[in-house]
Amino acid sequence: MSGRRVIITGVPGVGKTTVVTGALKRLEDKGITYKSLNFGTYMYEAALKEGLARDRDEMRKLPRDAQKRLQQSAARAMAGEEGNVLIDTHASVKTPRGFLPGLPEWVLRELMPDTIILVETDADQILLRRLADETRTRDMEGSGSIAGHQEFNRAIAAAYSMITGCTIKCITNADFLLEQAVEEMANALG
Ligand code: AP5
Repeated sequence: MSGRRVIITGVPGVGKTTVVTGALKRLEDKGITYKSLNFGTYMYEAALKEGLARDRDEMRKLPRDAQKRLQQSAARAMAGEEGNVLIDTHASVKTPRGFLPGLPEWVLRELMPDTIILVETDADQILLRRLADETRTRDMEGSGSIAGHQEFNRAIAAAYSMITGCTIKCITNADFLLEQAVEEMANALG
């Protein structure tokens, strides 16, 4: 397998797509390119084919077995990608029945990342960003619950590191400090 494999995670609305997009633009100017893949898009395409979900936000409400099957087919589809690959996904998904691991053992063995990056910020800021985003059907939860999800993601990322030997990096994407987060992401990917 050639190139680097980096997995980007963060709770919904933390801004991981925004930070990654900025970082990839900076790296492109330096001649460094990544193929950017969105795990949720791969899952959603499979879910649409099976008639399981009408939008991306419905997927986390599907029965556990259906989510696991979609995860597996997404991971397999991405496994063959060569060169520098960046995968935008979730360390864990909050489902009505509890946290579902975003990168269980069978997904990690397919993807074998070099690094997992956790994009984080204060839970209050994430709550406000979710409220302002009308393009998605976000689950309503308070900032305490968002903070708990971020803590859980750090814990489960440590387990992923134990399985694969990958490094774990945390990047803060705070309000008014997007450029700082973009810079840190570009350095981590460069
Ligand atoms: P996905 O589409 O990845 O859902 P998501 O996490 O909700 O992703 P978003 O793109 O909406 O959030 P983001 O954090 O990237 O924030 P954004 O940059 O848009 O996944 C969809 C579904 O797929 C999941 O719900 C799940 O069901 C499934 N899935 C995916 N991976 C899975 C896996 N491994 N296993 C099982 N299921 C999986 O930014 C949000 C807003 O904040 C924007 O308005 C932006 O302008 C603003 N913003 C960003 N940064 C800043 C800043 N610094 N200051 C102020 N505002 C900011």
